[in-house]
Amino acid sequence: MDALLAELTAIAGPEHVLTDPDLVAGYTTDWTRRFRGPARCVIRPADTGEVAAVLIACARHGVPVVPQGGNTGLVGGGVPGSQGAVVLSARRLRRLDPVDALSAQVTAGAGVTIAELRAHAARAGLEYGVDLAARDSATVGGTIATNAGGIQTIRYGPTRAQLLGLEAVLAGGSVISRLGGIQADNTGYDLTQLLAGSEGTLGVITAARLRLWPAEPPTLTVLAGVPGIEAAAAVAAEIRSLLPGLRAAEYFEAPGLALVRAHTSLPAPLPREYPAYLLADAAASEDDTERIVVLASLQEAAVAMDAQARARLWAYRERHTESISAAGIPHKLDVALPLGRLAAFRAELDEVIAKADARAIVFGHIGAGNLHVNVLGPDRDDDAVDDAVLRLAAGHGGTISAEHGIGRAKAAVLHLSRSAAEIEAMRAVKSALDPAGLLNPGVLFAPS
Ligand code: FAD
Ligand code: MLT
Ligand code: ZN
Repeated sequence: MDALLAELTAIAGPEHVLTDPDLVAGYTTDWTRRFRGPARCVIRPADTGEVAAVLIACARHGVPVVPQGGNTGLVGGGVPGSQGAVVLSARRLRRLDPVDALSAQVTAGAGVTIAELRAHAARAGLEYGVDLAARDSATVGGTIATNAGGIQTIRYGPTRAQLLGLEAVLAGGSVISRLGGIQADNTGYDLTQLLAGSEGTLGVITAARLRLWPAEPPTLTVLAGVPGIEAAAAVAAEIRSLLPGLRAAEYFEAPGLALVRAHTSLPAPLPREYPAYLLADAAASEDDTERIVVLASLQEAAVAMDAQARARLWAYRERHTESISAAGIPHKLDVALPLGRLAAFRAELDEVIAKADARAIVFGHIGAGNLHVNVLGPDRDDDAVDDAVLRLAAGHGGTISAEHGIGRAKAAVLHLSRSAAEIEAMRAVKSALDPAGLLNPGVLFAPS
C-alpha cells in the first residue's frame, strides 16, 4: 500500500477507502457517461474533522482532490480529469438538525439529498426552495457547489439564494464555519457566497445553514401545446399575470416528447401533437382553475390539481434527461438568454445543428430563460458543436452556464461569458485559497 493510501485508511477506516475498480467505477464516470478519469482511491469521510485530515494528507503528498456529492452533475466537475486524483465523497456527511421554526432555517450536512431536505422541511410545514429531477441523489453540498437552479428558480431563486451560511474545509485543511443563521451580518467578504458556485475548486463544503419558505397551498399544473418557443414564453407571462404564485414555467419540444414516450411508454399528453409544450406550476386555488382554462383555451391544455395527476404531467418534462441518455451520450449545453432573444436563438440553433449533422433536443426552464440544448450525434470528445452553440448563446447576450456550472465541459470557453479582468480576479481568488492548485484541477479554469 502506498504511503498516502495508508494515511487515508487510518483517517476514515478501510471500509471507507475504496480502491476496488468495481466499487470505484461509480465515482469516476459522470452521470452523462461523457466524462471519466482515473482515481487513486475514493474516500468517504464521516465528519468535518476527517475531511480536514484528508485534505492535509493529500496536500502533503501533492495529490489532487475531487470533491463529489451525488455525482449527478452534468459538466464533468465531480469526476477526475486525466490525473489520478483522490475522489472525496461527501455522502456520509449526513447531519440534519431539527428545523428552527422561529427563523425558518435548518442546518444540513453536505451529504443530505435534496429529497431528504425537502421532506424534512415539509414535516415542519415549510419548504426548501430548490427542487430538481435529480432530487433523490443530488446533495446539499453538490447543489451549493454548482449553485443549482431547478424547477422553482423563478419562485425562490437558485441555491445561493437559500444559503445563509456554510461550513467548509479549505485546501490547507483549515475549517471555516458560519452556521449561526444570522441574516443581518455585514462583516467583510462573504465567504459563504464565494463558495456557492465554486464547483469544488475552493473548498469542501461540509454543512450549510439554509433558508426555508412557508409551504404553499396545493398547486395547479397546466400542460399546454404551443406553436413554438415564442408562444411558450408569452403564455408563461400571461399565466404569471393571472396567478402571482407561479412556481415553475418549463418548456419542451416534440422531439424530446417523442424520446420520453419511447423510453417510458407514457401515453400522449394531449389529444393532438404540437411543436412545443409549456408546463406551468402555480400555487393556486380551485377558483384559479377557471381562469387558467379560459387562457389555456387559446391552446389545447391539460390541467391537474391533485398530486397524482400533476405528477403524471410533470413526468413528460422530468424524464427528458434519462430518455435522452438512453438514446446516446449527449453533449449537454445549458444556456440562458434574455427572454426577448429566445426565439432568435432557437431559430439559429437549428442551422448550427444542421451544419454539425447532429440532432438537438431542447427543453428547459423557460421562465428563467434557461434552455438545455442536448446534442446527440457528435463523438464524446468532439467539442465543435458545443463551441458553436455556446458562441451562439453568448452572441445573443446569453450565458454559457445557467445552472449546471462550467465543470470540465466548458472550462476552455469560460471567456465567452466572463471578461479577461473577471477571469484574472477569479484565478487570483483560486490561487489565494488553493496555492498548490490541488482542489479540482481542470474544473472551471482550463489548465494554463
Ligand atoms: P456532484 O455531481 O457530485 O458534483 C457537482 C460539482 O460540485 C462538482 O464540481 C463537485 O466537485 C462539486 N461538489 C460536490 N459536492 C461538493 C462538496 N461537498 N464540496 C465542494 N464541492 C462539491 N441541475 C440544476 O441546476 N437544475 C436542474 O433542474 C437539474 N436537474 C437535473 C436532473 C437530472 C435527472 C440530473 C441527472 C441532473 C440534474 N441537474 C440539475 C444537475 C445536478 O443534479 C446538479 O448539478 C447538482 O447540483 C449536483 O449535485 P451532486 O450532489 O450530484 O453533485
Ligand atoms: C433539467 O432541467 O431537467 C436538468 O437540468 C437536467 C438536464 O439538463 O438534463
Ligand atoms: Zn435544468
